[in-house]
Amino acid sequence: MIQVAIMGHGVVGSGVAEILLTHKNSLKKKVHNDISIKKILDLREFPELSYSDKFTKDFNDIVNDEEIKVVAEVMGGVNPAFDFVKRCLEAGKSVVTSNKELVAKKGAELLAIAKEKNVSFLFEASVGGGIPIIRPLNNCLVANEVDEIAGILNGTTNFILTKMITESMSFKDALSLAQQLGYAERDPSADVEGHDACRKICILASLAFGKHVYPDNIHTEGITNISLEDVEYANNWGGVIKLIGDVKHMPDNMLDIFVAPMLINNESQLSGIDDVFNGILVRGDATGDVVFYGKGAGKLPTASAVVADIVDCIKNMSTGKYLFWEDCDGSNVMPYEESVSAMYVRATGDIKSAEKVFGEISKLTRKKAPDNEIAFTTDEMSVKKFNAKLSELEKSGVKVINTIRIGDL
Ligand code: HSE
Repeated sequence: MIQVAIMGHGVVGSGVAEILLTHKNSLKKKVHNDISIKKILDLREFPELSYSDKFTKDFNDIVNDEEIKVVAEVMGGVNPAFDFVKRCLEAGKSVVTSNKELVAKKGAELLAIAKEKNVSFLFEASVGGGIPIIRPLNNCLVANEVDEIAGILNGTTNFILTKMITESMSFKDALSLAQQLGYAERDPSADVEGHDACRKICILASLAFGKHVYPDNIHTEGITNISLEDVEYANNWGGVIKLIGDVKHMPDNMLDIFVAPMLINNESQLSGIDDVFNGILVRGDATGDVVFYGKGAGKLPTASAVVADIVDCIKNMSTGKYLFWEDCDGSNVMPYEESVSAMYVRATGDIKSAEKVFGEISKLTRKKAPDNEIAFTTDEMSVKKFNAKLSELEKSGVKVINTIRIGDL
């Protein structure tokens, strides 16, 4: 019998308990042992549950229990999760987590402790919910030099954008619906401002390129400025707007990494990924493009990845299963100003001024646009050059309403 503990009985934690209990027999066949939940840490009471006797409010009941070999941390946030996870690893327990904020901010430190203690620290559920991506990057694609990873990494914003694109639903109504369905973070600004996607691309970049990338070091934009007008122009351009986390491997091992909304051509494999689904494109030098697709949020998809990690910990109990990357001070991240992209611009003013400043542009149209509204796409240029041209454009009397990167995906 393998005793496990779950820290947090929210959306994901209750899903982990549900899968461990309902799939008890099939999991037993896979690990050749019973997996038993010994303790569940939560400050709330759940008297109605068949397993209400497992609950504790005291973390010491888990960390001091030598019978508990694997702990699933599904509380979210860095405090107190970091302290609890660190102490569990130091006590010689393997830990699995769905907590992307924890891994993105503290991954290097926790991985080093796990290595020293010869236990596992796994986090498949932290990126892409139920989609396998951490294990494939670390195992199946390991023979590749990864050139780029680009992903729709946040289900809530993809759900919101899909509702805006297909039903002209307002941003606010779509966000409420996503919250009701349990997709959004406790604080949904982490979704709509891009921070959740930022944490996930940091984890993928750290794993793929071997050095920790911290969220504070990367340019992050959300979708709060995206309007139904932009959605309509994107459609007429031949694409859709998606929130993308992107990392490109540049010369000298530098990373061009950011999170931003992007216009994605309808021919891209990422363009048709809708609703709460996530899609992650990995460009390997040997494989070419590989795309991972599935439900990126929600109770059971995320719990599925957590339970898979628990099983992996049990299978590798004697040896420890390592994921690893080195710590880094941010010197591996290219300044965002040097990042190169073609851009979409929507503004009010005179299109001739835009042509004068940007040279060759492609004009966009939409039905019922106000007479003084202009929209166009530019050639590729660095963010620095683009910003300088935008200032010049504004000096000529054009008022810029929104700008969006154009993805080459
Ligand atoms: N809030 C996250 C999302 C949950 O919408 O993708 C899964 O990480």
